[in-house]
Amino acid sequence: IKRVTTHQLLAMKQRGERISMLTAYDYSMAKILDGAGIDVLLVGDSASNVMAGHETTLPITLDQMIYHAASVVRAVGRAFVVVDMPFGSYQGNSSEALRSAIRIMKESGGHGVKLEGGAEIKDSIIRILTAGIPVMGHLGLTPQSIYKFGTYTVRAKEEAEAQKLLDDAKLLEELGCFALVLEKIPSALAKQVAEQLTIPVIGIGAGPEVDGQVLVVHDMLGITQEFKPRFLRRYAELGDLMHQAVTQYIGDVKSRDFPNEKEAY
Ligand code: KIV
Ligand code: NA
Repeated sequence: IKRVTTHQLLAMKQRGERISMLTAYDYSMAKILDGAGIDVLLVGDSASNVMAGHETTLPITLDQMIYHAASVVRAVGRAFVVVDMPFGSYQGNSSEALRSAIRIMKESGGHGVKLEGGAEIKDSIIRILTAGIPVMGHLGLTPQSIYKFGTYTVRAKEEAEAQKLLDDAKLLEELGCFALVLEKIPSALAKQVAEQLTIPVIGIGAGPEVDGQVLVVHDMLGITQEFKPRFLRRYAELGDLMHQAVTQYIGDVKSRDFPNEKEAY
């Protein structure tokens, strides 16, 4: 199996082949997703919510992201692995951003990093790109800024915010980002961005007219059951399945059905 590269992702956009991307935070899950042929795995800072149970993505640390990313990288043979830079590891100044990105690359073996924001973090992006580290942008709903927005509702519905997003998207491409995630914005705006950029645009809640799609894997598998935004399609009800399996196991232990003679030495 050949590894997916940033060049191949660009070629996929050029020939109109949609890019598939999912989050992953651990070895066992990543092995299944990579085996199924996913193009890109994102070690998202959504690990803060999904893995650690925090309300927001803000608390997760660089060390914790590196732990998740290293676990994913050990499982992967084909997918391109992108690692989210956590809140506080790149916004302060570009030297700290570069140091954080280098730690991620060295200590996890990931193939690239993702940062939230546009013009505000331009210097950090330039420093990281100059070191030869592929950078994926992230615009629209940027959960690390949740306390600025106040809600997780759709972004860039107003003309001014839409124009800033378009400008930021073009800036990210000019700087040299290899791809861009657009989260929870109107489909028409996402389509416009994807048409105007040559780099692949990956959407989550950004409609069908972009170059690829990403979802949080625990959401699309039905493991996280509370979270049901309109953009989410559930491909399985693993939460229900796991509940059934565990209920059965408990019953079997209580009734002494498990283990039987064949399951003992
Ligand atoms: O952390 C994450 O899961 C993400 C995706 C939703 C794009 O950034
Ligand atoms: Na993220």
